[in-house]
Amino acid sequence: MKNNTLTTGFSRLDKVQKIDLVSSHVSDPELFSNTIYSSWHRDPVVQKMYDEFSENTLGNYFFPFGVAPNFLINGKMYMVPLVIEESSVVAAASGAAKFWAERGGFHSEVIGVEKIGQVHFTWNGGKELLLRFFPEIRSKMLINTERITANMMKRGGGILGIELLDMTDKIPDYYQVKATFDTCDSMGANFINSCLEEFADTLRDSIAGNDELSAYNLQVIMSILSNYTPNCLVHTWVEGKIQEGHHYDDLYTDKEFITRFETGVRIAEVDAYRATTHNKGIYNGIDAVVLATGNDFRAVEACGHAYASRNGQYSSLSKVEISDKTFRFSLTVPMALGTVGGLTHLHPLAKLSLDLLGNPDAAELMMIASAAGLANNYSAVKSLVTKGIQKGHMKMHLLNILNTYQATDNEKKHAVEFFKHEKVSHSAVNSFLESMRS
Ligand code: MEV
Repeated sequence: MKNNTLTTGFSRLDKVQKIDLVSSHVSDPELFSNTIYSSWHRDPVVQKMYDEFSENTLGNYFFPFGVAPNFLINGKMYMVPLVIEESSVVAAASGAAKFWAERGGFHSEVIGVEKIGQVHFTWNGGKELLLRFFPEIRSKMLINTERITANMMKRGGGILGIELLDMTDKIPDYYQVKATFDTCDSMGANFINSCLEEFADTLRDSIAGNDELSAYNLQVIMSILSNYTPNCLVHTWVEGKIQEGHHYDDLYTDKEFITRFETGVRIAEVDAYRATTHNKGIYNGIDAVVLATGNDFRAVEACGHAYASRNGQYSSLSKVEISDKTFRFSLTVPMALGTVGGLTHLHPLAKLSLDLLGNPDAAELMMIASAAGLANNYSAVKSLVTKGIQKGHMKMHLLNILNTYQATDNEKKHAVEFFKHEKVSHSAVNSFLESMRS
């Protein structure tokens, strides 16, 4: 292994040279380069495309691509593609999807699709002067972005609004141009950022070209979309009558189960420690769909966690309502997704995922991803408030543990049978394999 020397000119090396150089930094260079080479796609054209998704690419990093069938959403049945490395997430999604498909399925509605971008700037000429000229500047901003917005407008989207915000109570001389957008079926990051940079240029030019304004100092600090999109929102729910016969669980009666479940969700409403784990369970499902369809899971997560804190305390994104003898479990979550642009049709598996979902528009994909989130949340909370999570988790984790000990197919077969009735742990699996091997 090399020590802390600076690596220079790395990006200019070709791929093989990069692999050679990086190999010299690991404990087993041959294993490293063999593993990287064996990750390459057999078709060099496809591999080149994967390489070009990012920079300094050496090879591919595999994640399981799975499917959860039986997602009935607004009366339409979906097989939902899930890309996730954590065992039991797909099982949890599938279990809840089937359970609720037999009880009316998921209901979902998109509440809004508005995206947001900001130009942050400082100006020392005072608010009144800026406010007086802003309507004129705004009109120029709309004209100057016409070449960027023309296509989006043809698709029914574009710029929805541009406003000037006085932020001087937070930072001296700090203002914002805050704009809202409809980006139709694209996530819209490039569209929004291009518009914002044009707004910034227009602001600079308008101030420089005006005698009254140019006497003061304008500094455009940055122009960038906001990943916080509280008005790009989807609401999804399942509901059932509170009566015996729903068979929510084997251990508890329906009434007992619902009381325990409701308390479990209430705890995540009031306690940030529990809320974080609770919401993580929701994102187990959402992220898996977001990744499978070539969307930006960091943006979706960041937005959801900001939304979960919108009332000043980080809280559960899902909630339980019990009224008129009805149990309703719902999730309200913002997410900016695209079904065109970005990687959605470039990544072969993202394209196939969208095909499997019937090529939904962005709004439909929001409903599908949120249903996967709610399904995972339902399964997790159900397990937690009944038999506990670990039994199921460790059963699912068994194959990972067996692979750690390089178990053969035959050993795996016997282990799976044996651990149907035994508690799974690393040491128990190790002892089992030792006794089989001796
Ligand atoms: C594990 O990935 C997710 C859970 O911790 C979620 C939860 O606690 O609600 C099981």
